[in-house]
Amino acid sequence: MIGIFDSGCGGLTVYDAVKRKYPQRSFLYLGDHAHAPYGERSPDDIRELTRRSVETLFGQGCRLVILACNTASANALRHLQQTWLSDAYPDNRILGVLVPMVEAITGMPWMADPAERPPVEKARTVAVFATSRTVSSNAYPVEVAKRAPEVRVVQQACPRLVDLIEHKAEREELRHAVQAYAEAMMIQLEGKAPDAVMLGCTHYPLVADLFAEALPEGVEILSQPTLVARSLAHYLERHPEFDDGEGLPTRFITTGDAGKVAEVSELFLGHEVPFTGL
Ligand code: DGL
Repeated sequence: MIGIFDSGCGGLTVYDAVKRKYPQRSFLYLGDHAHAPYGERSPDDIRELTRRSVETLFGQGCRLVILACNTASANALRHLQQTWLSDAYPDNRILGVLVPMVEAITGMPWMADPAERPPVEKARTVAVFATSRTVSSNAYPVEVAKRAPEVRVVQQACPRLVDLIEHKAEREELRHAVQAYAEAMMIQLEGKAPDAVMLGCTHYPLVADLFAEALPEGVEILSQPTLVARSLAHYLERHPEFDDGEGLPTRFITTGDAGKVAEVSELFLGHEVPFTGL
């Protein structure tokens, strides 16, 4: 069984892509709705809440957990791997959503030696929209710069967006919010269209069309769920020991109000899924 974790329902976008790739696999989804959104919390809070959630998933029998949350991946993943995981659960693994995105932006495998990178003809600009805490962690610009220093990463925080999405805001309200964040990004870019846009929050695929509408026409928007699913496939090829638990139906659990969360899940998956409380 593979565990998938997000602060709320955003990770369902990743679950959906991963489940399409692995229809036979069993997943356990955990949304920490009682403490969402994480995007405005302190890094210490995010680390502790993420640790607790991962421990819950480990306790339910998941040996591999995907942090389907950029905020947790950017602020907690490395810390947990270095300070907790190898002592507390040496046989278990945690993966995040940052690595596949950085690989896609730089065109380089995460562990590759940057010195072996072929020469690049043209500098590129990538616009990243994310939560405040993902932006302030600087994880995306730092990890991209290590591998592809010629890529300029410009970040724009979208502090209200996760809350609006989780509370089923009207389309017009979402459109206004996205427009304001896109305009703020274009000011940072001095009006010049970026070469690519990355929606660095797993909730944002729900409003990807609004971003496309608000940004200069034809700008490529990278799809995080697809890239994460592809990356997981490569990981499982290399680590078949985690590819277990075929056939059990997926379970969805939340630390929040299961009835309300089940209603919101319809926005993400096109149908309601039965969330249960912890
Ligand atoms: N889906 C989470 C992310 O990818 C949302 C974080 C939040 O709860 O603010 O960052």
